[in-house]
Amino acid sequence: MRYQGREVDIEGRVRLVMESALTARDRVGVQDFVLLENYNSEAAFIENLRRRFRENLIYTYIGSVLVSVNPYKELEIYSKQQMERYRGVSFYEISPHIYALSDNTYRAMRTERKDQCILISGESGAGKTEASKKILLYYAVTCPTNDHMAILGDRLLQSNPVLEAFGNAKTLRNDNSSRFGKYMDVQFDFRGTPVGGHILNYLLEKSRVVHQNHGERNFHIFYQLLDGGDDDLLITLDLERNPQNYRYLVKGNCPRVSSISDKNNWKVVMKALPVIGFTEEEKLLNIIASVLHLGNTQFGEGEEGDTYITTETQTSNLAKLLGVDGSALREALTHKKLTAKGEEMISPLNYEQAVSARDALAKAVYGRTFTWLVEKINQSLALKVHKDSSVIGLLDIYGFEVLQQNSFEQFCINYCNEKLQQLPFVEAQRHHFHPGVYNNCQFICLTVYIMLYVPLSRVFKCNSVAVFQDEECLRPGETCDVSFLEKLEDTVGSHPHFITHKLANGKTRRVVSREEFRLLHYAGEVNYNVNGFLDKNNDLLNRNLKEVMCQSDNQILSHCFRREEVIDQKRPEMAATQFKNSLMKLMEILMSKEPSYVRCIKPNDAKQPGRFDEVLVRHQVKYLGLMENLRVRRAGFAYRRRFEAFLQRYKPLCPETWPNWHGRLVDGVSTLVNHLGYKAEEYKLGRSKIFIRFPKTLFTTEDALEYKIFLGVNVCTCVFRCVVIVIQSGWRGMKARRRAKRRRQAAELIRRFIKGFIYRHEEYCPENEYFLDHVRYSFLKNLRQNLPKSVLDKSWPTPPPSLVEASEHLRRLHMRNMVIKYCRRVQPEWKKQMMQKVVASEIFKDQKDSYPLSVGRLFLDSRLEREQINLKVIQTLGSDKYGVSVIKYDRRGFKPRPRQLLLTNTFAVLVDRTKIKQRIDYAALRGISVGSLSDGMFVLHMPTEDNKQKGDAVLHCSHVIEVVTKLAMMANKTSYVNINPGSIRFTVARGKEGIIDFIRGSELKVAKGKRGHLLVVSQRLF
Ligand SMILES: Nc1ncnc2c1ncn2[C@@H]1O[C@H](COP(=O)(O)OP(=O)(O)OP(=O)(O)O)[C@@H](O)[C@H]1O
Ligand SMILES: [Mg+2]
Repeated sequence: MRYQGREVDIEGRVRLVMESALTARDRVGVQDFVLLENYNSEAAFIENLRRRFRENLIYTYIGSVLVSVNPYKELEIYSKQQMERYRGVSFYEISPHIYALSDNTYRAMRTERKDQCILISGESGAGKTEASKKILLYYAVTCPTNDHMAILGDRLLQSNPVLEAFGNAKTLRNDNSSRFGKYMDVQFDFRGTPVGGHILNYLLEKSRVVHQNHGERNFHIFYQLLDGGDDDLLITLDLERNPQNYRYLVKGNCPRVSSISDKNNWKVVMKALPVIGFTEEEKLLNIIASVLHLGNTQFGEGEEGDTYITTETQTSNLAKLLGVDGSALREALTHKKLTAKGEEMISPLNYEQAVSARDALAKAVYGRTFTWLVEKINQSLALKVHKDSSVIGLLDIYGFEVLQQNSFEQFCINYCNEKLQQLPFVEAQRHHFHPGVYNNCQFICLTVYIMLYVPLSRVFKCNSVAVFQDEECLRPGETCDVSFLEKLEDTVGSHPHFITHKLANGKTRRVVSREEFRLLHYAGEVNYNVNGFLDKNNDLLNRNLKEVMCQSDNQILSHCFRREEVIDQKRPEMAATQFKNSLMKLMEILMSKEPSYVRCIKPNDAKQPGRFDEVLVRHQVKYLGLMENLRVRRAGFAYRRRFEAFLQRYKPLCPETWPNWHGRLVDGVSTLVNHLGYKAEEYKLGRSKIFIRFPKTLFTTEDALEYKIFLGVNVCTCVFRCVVIVIQSGWRGMKARRRAKRRRQAAELIRRFIKGFIYRHEEYCPENEYFLDHVRYSFLKNLRQNLPKSVLDKSWPTPPPSLVEASEHLRRLHMRNMVIKYCRRVQPEWKKQMMQKVVASEIFKDQKDSYPLSVGRLFLDSRLEREQINLKVIQTLGSDKYGVSVIKYDRRGFKPRPRQLLLTNTFAVLVDRTKIKQRIDYAALRGISVGSLSDGMFVLHMPTEDNKQKGDAVLHCSHVIEVVTKLAMMANKTSYVNINPGSIRFTVARGKEGIIDFIRGSELKVAKGKRGHLLVVSQRLF
């Protein structure tokens, strides 16, 4: 282990250890600018940046603000391991990194449940977009997720290449410059899982579609399509591969960029489109191609100043790609519609007007498609569950811009930066009034802010410039940029931060031309050229062109150009007003969140690694307001840290706080600093933080800790190693012994088992005892799990030979047990039912054909309702009698008569409606005869000598088994029931007999048969 230098990398503490060492500090500077001794010196600030940049330490803090210098080379500090290092680690515990800021923001969101935002600013090429991508990647990799949410993470990441293809371009300052402002919300659920996202886009630089400065390109997508699209696709779109053939791509004379592979990027974009839910690829590509064809549409001038299109074929293809009518498009490109006194007139455009109408269409088509694209991405990122989500917003927006020629775009961009500058100001104010510490501090920086910011903001606040532009654009007749400048002079000429050539004094006049106005921004002076200002603000598209586009059968375009827009006579808002309004909304969004800042710095204009251009950096430090930031942060105290963090870090330096402090945190810190010999003026204890005034106090403490760790690490390492070796060898030996013992036991077991199997048929002896016990045990175990569950279940596991007898005992016991349990559960009514069924079974089982069918049918207490029995009969016999409808056959002639048979306890009666026709005393009953077939005939035999009795009763009933069983039971004459297979003889009168013959037939029939017999035909049942 080397003590100095970058290799000192113990368990993720690399930079901290190294950077805090005094010698290393000289070489690599401080990791937080608040620790700079001379915090007022810009030179010291820049020197610190330079030192760190030289050592590839591109990140440095100013308190909680992260300053990042573009390395222009790939550094190995973005790996997954690095992400892990920063997870859950306190901000100051470890070297500055974009991951530390991301992690801190994430944790603040989760623990404080407050929405957060990360504002990334810096000039073009400073690394804003790269920083925002790194933050997103950090969240995608480290946040908890599930399958569904992994898709969302993918979409969040994949939306980037698509947006970059359509919204980024090569400029002189950056090969992949974002030509739009982007604010992205990532939504997290209560578990901290990313569950949704939303993008807001600002001010796409549409003028780039039709014009590019020398050395710059149009938006990447055009070149990607031409380079990466396959031949068939290009033929369909009627395109040629060479970008030089398209006028909208040749202005900058820069078709290729060495750092960009359009072909590969095309593949990436095509892969990303389906991930973010695109199905309209074809329509989208038609639009891209149509813009290129539009650029190649050329005009000729007629003799009367009118214009006509010279590139007819091009226009036909164009109309096809746009999905509009060709002649309507031609007409709209060369004429304009005017409304005068309520009447519509068509007037031809001159050459310049036609060119500008064509360019306006190209810009509108591209610009609106871009907005549609963002909407589409938003749909795919839309949050599914709305409850309880927290948000981290990422703002990647153009930094303050000062070009050689500044126009409308720079005006808007710089206005935006003025507004954003408000945010740290508000935050600084919040920190300044930290209770108990800052009461006496100076407000130098604050005053600087107020002095610079407030008066200028008034210019923007009353929005005089933006409002004024709208007025100027709306003035009737020809408007011109110069009259706009004059109007500006009249309105805001007296403002100290506004200068024009006319208003300037002699010295300044030389640097402000007649077509310029100069604004003194918070970040410096900027001259704006008014040429083209009004046109860009106007951003007007002729009405007839809008009408044509509304009718497009390309769904993306018909979505972008709404019919209402044509019908609505109201003037659309000017670009500056739109921008101002969306900016206001953005400010509201940002103000409602807890902000963190990333300030990006570009080290050189040549996009080269290792080059640090001091002039360029100084300029950025100035307009990013970094010195002001530092001054506000250092107003009073250089360093602040929460008590627990301070104590945790420095507790080894004091015997009372090592290894753990058990009292109040503030007392622990107090004990620690007393032990360290801090003087009263060097520090202050706040409510939850310690504030240290001078960096050197902290450095001395750091160095002391460094030394302690160094000693500790050496001693500990040796002792630790020895202890580890002893424990390791002891542990391994014990494990090996255990394993050997288990193996021995297993072998012995197998041996006994095999021997037992061989002797299994012998008497129980030592050789087979283990095996037989095992077999018995297994049988009983198996039996326990497979005992029959009901009395009807006759299954039983097969026992081993030695347990056959025991098994049979067990089976019987179990069956008896089940029967007892079953009987206990039987209710009285059920018992009665069963008893009758048992008697029925004794009488009829295997004797009568209809018996099996009757088994499943319950015997009822009566087959007649109370209402069905005559009241007089009830009064005579009493209620609760079993009654059933029967047919009685006359003994002579066998005439059928319907009767009710009622059973009392001692006799039965046959009732004819109201009259009791026959009484059958049970005591006198000689017998009951039933046929063996499935019919319902039965005969009650009565004594013939008894004159009171009317002789045998020949009856038929559909419930013959039930009636006969009940009758036999009540009369206590079950043994008197005879079942006769062929015929029944019965007594008609004294000495005279009748006969009933039974035969089988297709259906039941009772009729008089041959020889005066009663013939009963029974149905065959089976
Ligand atoms: N952390 C980094 N590591 C390596 N290279 C970087 C890093 N940051 C930026 N770069 C390089 O700088 C280039 C410009 O960065 P980026 O596109 O992020 O700038 P920007 O600030 O977004 O500019 P613009 O305002 O024009 O969009 C990148 O293409 C990349 O090559
Ligand atoms: Mg960018």
